[in-house]
Amino acid sequence: PIDVRVNDLLHRMTLAEKIGQMDQISVVRMQGDCQWSGGDFTDSCMKSVLVDNAAGSVLSGGGAGPAVNTPENWAKMVNAVQKYAVTNSRLHIPVLYGVDAVHGHNNVLGATIFPQEIGMGSTWDASLAGAAGAATARAVAATGIDWNFAPVTDIARDQRWGRYYETYGEDPLLSGTLAASAVKGIQGADGAKKVAATVKHFAGYGEPGNGHDRVPGDVSIRYLQDTLLPSYKQAIDAGAKTVMVNSGAINGVPATGSRYLLTTVLRKQFGFQGVVVSDWQDVRALQTSYHVAADYPEAIAKAVNAGLDMAMEPYDAQGWSDGLKTAVDRGLVSVQRIDQSVARILTLKFQLGLFEHPYVDASKADAAVLGADTTLARQAADESQVLLRNDGNVLPVSSSAKKIVVAGSYADDINDQLGGWTVGWQGVPDGVQAPGTTVLQGIKAAAPSGTQVVQAKTADDAVAQAKDADLTVVVVGEKAAAEGAADSPRPELSADQQALVKSLKATGKPVVTVVIAGRPLVLGDADGTQGLLMSWLPGSEGGKAVADVLFGAVNPSGRLSASWPKDIGNEPLYYQQLPGTNGGPESSYDAAYPFGAGLSYTTYTFASIKAASATARAKDTIHLSVGVSNSGSRAGDLVVPVYVSQPSSDVLSPSRKLVAFARVHLDAGQSRTVALDVPPSRLAVTPGDIDGSAPQAVASGDYVFTAGTQTTTVTVH
Ligand code: IFM
Repeated sequence: PIDVRVNDLLHRMTLAEKIGQMDQISVVRMQGDCQWSGGDFTDSCMKSVLVDNAAGSVLSGGGAGPAVNTPENWAKMVNAVQKYAVTNSRLHIPVLYGVDAVHGHNNVLGATIFPQEIGMGSTWDASLAGAAGAATARAVAATGIDWNFAPVTDIARDQRWGRYYETYGEDPLLSGTLAASAVKGIQGADGAKKVAATVKHFAGYGEPGNGHDRVPGDVSIRYLQDTLLPSYKQAIDAGAKTVMVNSGAINGVPATGSRYLLTTVLRKQFGFQGVVVSDWQDVRALQTSYHVAADYPEAIAKAVNAGLDMAMEPYDAQGWSDGLKTAVDRGLVSVQRIDQSVARILTLKFQLGLFEHPYVDASKADAAVLGADTTLARQAADESQVLLRNDGNVLPVSSSAKKIVVAGSYADDINDQLGGWTVGWQGVPDGVQAPGTTVLQGIKAAAPSGTQVVQAKTADDAVAQAKDADLTVVVVGEKAAAEGAADSPRPELSADQQALVKSLKATGKPVVTVVIAGRPLVLGDADGTQGLLMSWLPGSEGGKAVADVLFGAVNPSGRLSASWPKDIGNEPLYYQQLPGTNGGPESSYDAAYPFGAGLSYTTYTFASIKAASATARAKDTIHLSVGVSNSGSRAGDLVVPVYVSQPSSDVLSPSRKLVAFARVHLDAGQSRTVALDVPPSRLAVTPGDIDGSAPQAVASGDYVFTAGTQTTTVTVH
């Protein structure tokens, strides 16, 4: 059994070896100093990291991709790192190798890229999120990597925050459900080896106080418990083996040093038993940025005693070893506490099978990664398209259209579609052309033979061409970036793009706007074209997906995972507004397109919602059935959300809160009854006064469940 093997190792390890297991080093540190040249590692820096400091883990994270250009080479390099560790470390302990493959394998030119999470959120398709996770894990495993720093499970409600696009959006249940499925997909994948998932960034990383990445956030315990924590809990309950800590500070305490978050909530409340890793250099940040520790050993003690198991200390294995050793010598950290973390790390290594199978067959990596799973990625991109406007049924494009103009600077650059953490850290590095299909290419390939497709490269040309076109498709958007580099006080479409769309509207000819971006952008002068399609960051198959929807090969089915602001002053913006005295929640929720919005090419009817029983006890699961039908003439997928409201409650409750959802297929004319369950955890809130100290509970009273225009009331007593 694993615990026997872990204990056996622990008893044979020196304190220095245990301390090393708790360190994660960037592979760039190795690349830079050790210069992998294709064979085995022999360099002295490898000895320094993996033997002298006995580092237990390695990552290719942040902007730190390995200097290898093919999956095969990457697998060889990972094998070489592993071989060095297994051969030369005293107890032959393999390293854990981690990577940020959040929507397709990262740092691999030619890997299939799935829609970024915010678009995946708009599919409302949990099984798809799982399948994408499994496909990504197979690619990751093929390159020898054991650990994927995904999924991002943060709730994001402030679109000024640059990492907004990496989340599944603003709703706790939608995010938690998709993340839970992604965890199962990643960890259950039948790849070359097992891969661990990471629930990140625990907790409350999506609450940057003023919209800037990693500024401290202030949240009430009620908001933390009822709104921010549930999505992490769902993903942890799905079996996630690791958790990464929020780099920010919550209520005046950096998460990395928060015993409340890392022990009281994570271990005691959630029962998490896996490995907790910090984010990049965050233990050191307790001293150098947050100034809550006088020196590095004190910072380490704070984090480890809070509950941290592994430090992402990317450049300084020696510093970590010395720092934790000093903390032990000063009596700040007990060896018993260290043993606890090392046992968790070794357990994970055993669970992943690393001791038995430390290497992969590098010769299989290219075939397993390059061009893999494109059908799935196209399905994901198709399902993530959200049609927000279709005046006069301008879409699907008429088969009699003779001329389509494609304009806008986002029409023909594949790199803009791929989002962040893919071929590079902040989108795709300049000068690198990733494979995939752009919107222009997709439209050209899908247009009927009698339809001429013309690309207008300048604004003047676009207007001139539009004048005698049947349709102009203008593709606008925003580039993705990451980690502090993409915060913006103005989440709006740039002035030149607004001007382009405005002048196209002025031609009086039909215009469809396609937005390629990781967050809803205030459209300003670009608002009001006949068609509006939110494509998000749709990945390598994105151009085909846009064309699928434009030409009607696919009936659009995406629903907004994020509220679309009318005005840039409306941030943070989310639909779960609480009532105030100035006109009710509606007046404070000024969305151009609300959470859940999305059109299709058919018409759906919500015919009924029924509860199995009109009364329930607080501990009961409420069983609902929703009658839906496709009253139009095209088959399609319908997202069926059920919201709850309380006519009267002890503490404020939002006018609608998502408590269940499904995505169902309906043929033209078909009716179905959809069974949906609402477990008590989805109704439980923190009761009592503003101290928020009472545990969550389901309050007695009436609960009104709404699907479409239909409602049913259940009385809980
Ligand atoms: O996993 C990431 C995290 O999301 C942000 N900081 C760096 C980590 C490793 O690359």
